[in-house]
Amino acid sequence: LMIRRPPRSTPLYSSAASDVYKRQPHNTEGTYWLPKGVNGATAGTDTMFYAVLAMSFFFFFGICGATIYFVIKYRHRPGHKAQPSASHNDVMEITWTVIPSLICVFLFIYGWRGYVHGATPPQKAVEVQVLAYRWGWNFTHNNGVQDSDLHVPVNVPVRLVMTAKDVLHSFFVPVLRSKQDLVPRRYTYTWFEATKPGTYRLYCTEYCGRDHSQMKVKFVVHATGGYERYLAEKEAATRTLPPVELGKSLYEKKGCNACHSLDGSPRVGPSFKGTFGTKVTLASGAVVDMDETYIRTALLAPAAQSRPGFAPSMPSFEGQLKEAEIMGLIEFIKSLK
Ligand code: CUA
Repeated sequence: LMIRRPPRSTPLYSSAASDVYKRQPHNTEGTYWLPKGVNGATAGTDTMFYAVLAMSFFFFFGICGATIYFVIKYRHRPGHKAQPSASHNDVMEITWTVIPSLICVFLFIYGWRGYVHGATPPQKAVEVQVLAYRWGWNFTHNNGVQDSDLHVPVNVPVRLVMTAKDVLHSFFVPVLRSKQDLVPRRYTYTWFEATKPGTYRLYCTEYCGRDHSQMKVKFVVHATGGYERYLAEKEAATRTLPPVELGKSLYEKKGCNACHSLDGSPRVGPSFKGTFGTKVTLASGAVVDMDETYIRTALLAPAAQSRPGFAPSMPSFEGQLKEAEIMGLIEFIKSLK
């Protein structure tokens, strides 16, 4: 399997997003094994992880050590005869039954308790609707605000109602110790209570196709009051924007910026700059006008207009864009002279 990296000069994020990563490159707190967890709902999982890790080390090195020791001690040498092995030893057999049984019971009880706690969201939780698609995320908040990054309040339980548009994806935020598949045509749930404001990373952790690795976005935990501000600002921004501005905000919000640049450089898809009003050649060889109809088709039925030199990986936004939003995107692309 060949995995090609994009060249260094191709930014994977919009400049705004990469600035955040520059300021907060990683959650640097934590250990060699795990970043510091910030989820009040999964407080016990780290203890479980370290307990299983310690036991794995203990038994791995213990068993390997004993094996090597016995292989050397009882190796075949001239003058030594094989000893008949003992057929039975009560003390040993009880020991190797009772100790692993106790370990299993301990692991089961703590694992079960953690699982039930993690699978049962509290009644009073902020709900966010999550739609995953190839290759991005759409988070819809209670007031209708949509975003391609996940924003949540600190110290408040958050419940995610999740589904996928096309294939299996999986929600994974390492600092939350939380992982849940998103399945087309059905809903799955997860919940958490973030305990520390900051900008963390959210990944897709189910291989879902060529740009699976592009499904890493920001997970922003707002300090008290910040979440409400974020919702109000976002809402106001989409309500009063002129079409070009609306299109620009959708360009970022819907994740167009991951594949289409504004400076003329090709990424996964062609750049938007200076394309409106030109003639473009399709993969079929046809030459068409890059006009309003072209953009509308590109948004709703992109497969019909794939372009030579670019993989036909653009997702359809059919059913996800209002008429005014389609118009906004058209006007925005038109404005990029
Ligand atoms: Cu979506 Cu991997």
